[in-house]
Amino acid sequence: MRLSTLASLDDLLGTIDMLCIPASKEMLDVLHTEVLSLLIPAETLPPVSELLANKKNNTLLFYGQYKGTRIKVLIACECEKLKESNIYSICKKLAIRAKNENSIRTGLMVHHLSSTDIVQSAFAGWTAGQYDLGLYKNGEDENGRKSTSSVHSFIPHGFTQFAENGITIGLVQHEVMTLVNVPASHKSPAALGRWAENSASDYNYKVNVINKEQLLKLGMHALLAVNRGSEYEAHCVVTHYQHPEATRKIVLIGKGVIFDTGGVSIKTSKNMHYMKSDMAGAAAALGTVEACARLGLKVNVMAIAPLTDNSIDNTSIKPGDVISSYLGKSIEVIDTDAEGRLILADALAYAVKEYKPDVMIDMATLTGSIVASLGPQAAGLFTNNDSLAAELSAAGNISGERVWRMPMYDEYQDDMQSDIADIKNLSEKPYAGATTAAKFLEYFTSDHPAWAHLDIAGMAFQANGFGKSYCATAYGVRLLVKWISQN
Ligand code: BES
Ligand code: ZN
Ligand code: ZN
Repeated sequence: MRLSTLASLDDLLGTIDMLCIPASKEMLDVLHTEVLSLLIPAETLPPVSELLANKKNNTLLFYGQYKGTRIKVLIACECEKLKESNIYSICKKLAIRAKNENSIRTGLMVHHLSSTDIVQSAFAGWTAGQYDLGLYKNGEDENGRKSTSSVHSFIPHGFTQFAENGITIGLVQHEVMTLVNVPASHKSPAALGRWAENSASDYNYKVNVINKEQLLKLGMHALLAVNRGSEYEAHCVVTHYQHPEATRKIVLIGKGVIFDTGGVSIKTSKNMHYMKSDMAGAAAALGTVEACARLGLKVNVMAIAPLTDNSIDNTSIKPGDVISSYLGKSIEVIDTDAEGRLILADALAYAVKEYKPDVMIDMATLTGSIVASLGPQAAGLFTNNDSLAAELSAAGNISGERVWRMPMYDEYQDDMQSDIADIKNLSEKPYAGATTAAKFLEYFTSDHPAWAHLDIAGMAFQANGFGKSYCATAYGVRLLVKWISQN
C-alpha cells in the first residue's frame, strides 16, 4: 500500500470517492458542522441525534458530493472516545468495509485524531484492513477488478512519521497473516526458514536456519520427536535484530507447528482445518523482529521458532512414549496432541543456555483450555515476574491486544509429575489445562527470572472481518512492539 498524503482536507475530498471517518460520540457535533456539512446539502443533512440513532453495526454510510463529484462517507462511531486501544480495530473495520463497497480511491480522515500514538495505530489498522485474504483466488473479483485500490489521507503536520510507522506495522501484519493463512499444503518448516532469510536480507538483520541434522547434533530431541511422523524435516529459525544503543537482550520464542493433526492422539475433524494456524506464535515472533528492524527500534531482540508439523504416521511418537529433550530431562508423552509444549521445551532451554536473555517471552497457540477461559478477548499471560506482568498488561491495554494474567501456583506442578520419567506432558486432571501447560514450560526455563508465556490460542485465528470464516489476526506483533517501545 502506498500512502499518499495530501495537503489539505479540500485536496483530500477532491481526490477520493469514499471518505472513511473514525469517530466517537464526543466528536459527532464537530464532525457534523466541519465535515458532513461540506458534503451533504443542508436539506438532507441529518441532525446529530439521528446520526447516533440510525446506525447499523456502528457504522453509517452516506452519499454526499463534493464540488459536483459523488462521494461516499463512511463513519464508524462505536465508542465514547477514540483511544489508542480502539482506533486500530475501528480503522481496520473501515478499510474492510470500504473494500466491500468497491471504493476505488479511499481516503481516511485522521486530522481530528489527538495524539501521535493514536495516528500510528489508526494507520496500522487502516493498513491491516487492506489485507486480501483470497490468496489462492484466480483472476479478478466478481466486480471485474483486482481488489487493489488507492488510499489517501490528509495528515496533519508532524504526524507523517507516525502514520508511516503505523503503515509499516500494518504491512508486517500482512506478512504474518499470510504466513498463518497459508494452508499446510503450501507451507513447511523450510518455507518459513526461507521467509525469514528473505526478510532478514530485505531489512538488514541476522538469521540462522537450523536444519534437522544440526538439531540432532544440538540435542533438540523433543522437537525431533514431534517431527518423527512428518513428511517435512523440522527446522529451528533464529532471527536477530540489534540496535547499537540497545542494552538488554530480549528473546521471543514462538510455537511453530505447521499443522497439528494431534498425531496418534488424533483430533476430531470438526474445525481441524483451523490447525494450520498452529504456527501463529512463530509467525508473531518472527514478525515482531522484522517490525523492530523496519522501525529501527532501539532494541536487541531475537526470535526463536521451532518448526515442525504434528503428523500421523507409523513412525510418529505414541502415547506413553518417553522422549529426551535439549535440557536432558526425560518426558513421558501421555498425549501426542500436547505437542506444542514439547517443541517449546527445547526452544526455551536452548534460548536460556545459548543466548542468556535478560527477558524471554514465548507465544503459543497452546491450549483449547485458554480459549474456554478467555475466549477471543485476551491471551493468557503466565509469569512469575510481577513487573514483567505489569508491563505486558499495560502494553496490552494500550494497544488493544489484551493479555490476562493467569495463576502459576506451584501446586499445579504436581499434576505434571510422571511415574517413569522426569515430567509428563499432560495433567490428567480435568481442569486448569492452560496453567498446567505453562508449568510444563516453566520446568524447561531453568527458573529464568524474567520469562513470560502467552497462550494465544484464542487470539491468533478469529472471525475478524476479512471473510466469512476464521482467519489470522497477527495478534502479538502490536502488543510486543508496544511493550518494546515502552520499556
Ligand atoms: N494446537 C492445540 C491448541 C489449540 C486449540 C490451538 C484450539 C488453537 C485452538 C494444542 O496443540 C492442543 O492440541 N492442545 C490440547 C492439549 C491437550 C491434549 C492437553 C488441547 O488444548 O486440547
Ligand atoms: Zn496439539
Ligand atoms: Zn498444537
